[in-house]
Amino acid sequence: MTQSKSRPQTTAPLLAVLDGRAFPETPPVWIMRQAGRYLPEYRRLRAEQENFLDFCFNTKSIIEATCQPLARFDLDAAIVFSDIFALPQALGYPLRFEDGVGPVLEVLTSGVLEKLSSVSEDRVFDALHPVFAALTQLRTDLPNHKALLGFCGAPWTLACYAFSGHPAPDQLPARMMSYTEPDFFRQFIHLMTVFSAEYLVRQLKAGADAVQIFDSWAGVLDEERFSRWCLAPTREIVSRVRQKIPGARIIGFPRGCTADFLKNYALETGVSAVGVDHTTSYKTMRDLQEICPVQGNLDPLRLLAGGTALKEGVYSLLRALSPAGRHIFNLGHGIHPETPPEHVTDMIRLIKDFDFK
Ligand code: CP3
Repeated sequence: MTQSKSRPQTTAPLLAVLDGRAFPETPPVWIMRQAGRYLPEYRRLRAEQENFLDFCFNTKSIIEATCQPLARFDLDAAIVFSDIFALPQALGYPLRFEDGVGPVLEVLTSGVLEKLSSVSEDRVFDALHPVFAALTQLRTDLPNHKALLGFCGAPWTLACYAFSGHPAPDQLPARMMSYTEPDFFRQFIHLMTVFSAEYLVRQLKAGADAVQIFDSWAGVLDEERFSRWCLAPTREIVSRVRQKIPGARIIGFPRGCTADFLKNYALETGVSAVGVDHTTSYKTMRDLQEICPVQGNLDPLRLLAGGTALKEGVYSLLRALSPAGRHIFNLGHGIHPETPPEHVTDMIRLIKDFDFK
């Protein structure tokens, strides 16, 4: 939506779509969690380090993991290898990753919040230096037609983990805290909003061409809470980033939202494009395309299944959103770790060979 006149032209199709410039023949494609356990070379690299967070704070591992999917597949973007918990970790949030469980955070107390609030900005971003160094090197190494993406977790999604300590399906602890301890809740969201915005600014300055805000748990909120804890903080992040980097390209992914919420999000946050999951209808995607480009929504299980399930899904999505100008091909959520890599090759071939005529 927002464009910067001073920005040099680039040949990357993903950036052309985000800028509303020349339409590529077929939609650019990348895959959420495209670097990861479904790739044997990732599992080998990952095995070199015991701790997932050590891996995420090592410039060499970040660069190698980021490039692995691009070495295999004709993807249009690389996403820097990291995690939404890199920022909380750098802030000094007590957290760890457990095999087979995922992130485990100390449940947020006023003591923890005080500690996070008193950390200096310099210390936080010094700790994240490996991410910035990787982005700079990656932008130098990657060809111009491949976009480089950075990312962060949205404040609401970070709150979901901070208030429950572990993945909780309906996010009951965070939702309850937002009602019972509104001031405490607001303080945490505000802190995450301010730091996330600055984190994205620094990723863009280091070399990212665009960034994505992952709001994986946006879909569990009622209308008023959605407006307050998903929409408003995202709008503030977008506005803070664009104050420092006019025209910054920002993709917002409020997963699990109904059509009305998605429409408000696209209209009110100012994001350059909106990501949708597999439950969003083609009709809603077309309505959103009137506002901004749309990313997603292939069911990750179609990619896991492969064959006819994959082919039918890719074709019906491409036909429904034709022509290709305001669509970024992606899954509706991260790739499943059991996905055979050949299915990704098949998917990209189906997209790139698709005849829109
Ligand atoms: O897209 C990419 O290739 C970049 C890498 C990336 C990771 N996490 C690496 C990762 C990205 C973009 C993320 C985002 C992320 N992390 C989100 C938002 C997107 C989503 O999936 O909803 C969330 C909620 C997290 C938090 C997280 N990290 C969980 C819940 C888990 C455990 C479950 C799981 O999928 O493994 C992780 C661990 C994690 N993050 C792994 C990877 C490759 C697996 C750990 C390992 O390899 O040892």
